[in-house]
Parts: sequence; structure tokens; C-alpha cells
Amino acid sequence: MFLYKKSQKIDLTTDKLNHQKYIRIYRWNPHFQQKPWFSIYPISTKNCGPMLLDALIQIKNIQDSTLTFRRSCREGICGSCSMNINGVNSLACLKTLNFEEKFVTIYPLPHMYVIKDLVVDLTNFYSQYKSIKPWLVNKSINSSNELLQSKKDRAELNGLYECILCACCSASCPSYWWNQETYLGPAILLQAYKWIVDSRDQITTERLNFLNHKIRLFRCHTILNCSKTCPKNLNPGKAISSIKQSILHI
Ligand code: SF4
Ligand code: SF4
Ligand code: FES
Repeated sequence: MFLYKKSQKIDLTTDKLNHQKYIRIYRWNPHFQQKPWFSIYPISTKNCGPMLLDALIQIKNIQDSTLTFRRSCREGICGSCSMNINGVNSLACLKTLNFEEKFVTIYPLPHMYVIKDLVVDLTNFYSQYKSIKPWLVNKSINSSNELLQSKKDRAELNGLYECILCACCSASCPSYWWNQETYLGPAILLQAYKWIVDSRDQITTERLNFLNHKIRLFRCHTILNCSKTCPKNLNPGKAISSIKQSILHI
């Protein structure tokens, strides 16, 4: 195992290899009686796949099997590999290794309970998702009829259905950091808006009444960190504003 320890100095002036990068990763193990620490791993971009997730997988396979992180699809679809990369919440599989800096620093998503290393506890996030009834409610559904939509109604879902529930936006939202027991946060509110504007759904008023709550929805202060952060280029801040507008017309 080739692993730079915390105390080891890396002399970048003698490091002439442009393809050499260093991945600095937050580590914590609940079974060790010690504070979190950083591990720094060298990676040659010549011998590694093009994305940051490729580097993490190579580190785990070759350098340090104890490193823990989530991943599945490796193409920005499952939302598993969300983490804080050089200060911005993003997906490791969508971040290229081809950056100027020698170092990349990776933390778990901020203001979430850490289970181990880069894996955070999403129990609260998913129970909030469940609370918005993330399924279509339509009494006329049966196995023999299709619920057709006009092109216009279908277009209303654009910019919403693409959300992969990676939680990057919620973990970047100061309102969510401090009120996540009650405030639903941008990811869940964007998902809620998707069901509100779906022309096939029949409980729009019930959905809006549930959201019409001083913290659950109105703790959003329109700072828009969420929309800046989303690795899928979605706009949860706009979806939240649209919910607030819709509530005016209940
Ligand atoms: S716009 Fe609302 S949801 Fe988005 S970061 Fe700001 S407070 Fe959070
Ligand atoms: S809106 Fe974007 S950042 Fe937020 S959960 Fe969905 S895909 Fe992730
Ligand atoms: S591994 Fe699925 S989004 Fe990155």
C-alpha cells in the first residue's frame, strides 16, 4: 500500500510529473477511538480513468481498501457518489481529474451525520422524501388504460424529472443545515413540485396544503445556493418559488 500519512511532507517543487495528482480525503471510522483525519493518495492521471470516481476506485482497489464511499452507476444517474469536492458539493463520477491544481480535497456532504469516511446518513433525507408521497395518485389508473399527457403538460416536467436525489443541493443549503428535522430542503421540494405540476395527479391541493407550513417550505430564504450547486444543472430554487406561488392560489 502506497499511502501518504498526515505528517508526510510532499515536495511539489521536486514533483515534475504533471500527471501526478494528490487526492486528500476526509477519513473517519466509528470503530476507532480517534478524531477524523486526512489521508492523501497520489494518483497518476496516465494510469487512471478520466474521472474523480475512477481515482477513488483505483485508490480503494490498489492503495487502501479501507476507504469507504458510495457509488453505483458511474454516469451521473444514481446520485450515490455525491460528496464535497474542493468546496463544492458534486458527483465524483461527473468531475474530471483533468484540473489545474495538484490537490483535490474531498469531504463528505456537509452538515450530514457521517457513517464512515465519505458515507453520510441519508435516513432523514429519505423519510422526508417519503413524506411528500412521491408517487402518482390517480383513481382512474388500471392495467388497461394509459394516462396520456399533452406535449405541453409533459413539458412541465422538464427540469424536474431529471433530479437524481443526490442531496448535493440540500447539503449546500444553510436553511437545511440548521433546520433539517423540519425544513424539507431543496431536493425534496423540487421532487414535491414535480408531483404538483404533473397533469395526471389528482391530489394537487392536498400536496400544497401539506407544504404550506412556516418551516417545511417557507424556511427557504431564496439564497439559491441549491441552484448553483446542482450537478445536473437543475433549479430547485425556482421550483420552490413556484410552489410558493401555487399556494397563493389554493
Ligand atoms: S434557495 Fe432556498 S432551498 Fe435553495 S439554498 Fe436558498 S434557502 Fe436553501
Ligand atoms: S436538484 Fe440537483 S442537486 Fe438536488 S438532489 Fe436533484 S439532482 Fe441532486
Ligand atoms: S456513481 Fe451514480 S451518480 Fe455517480
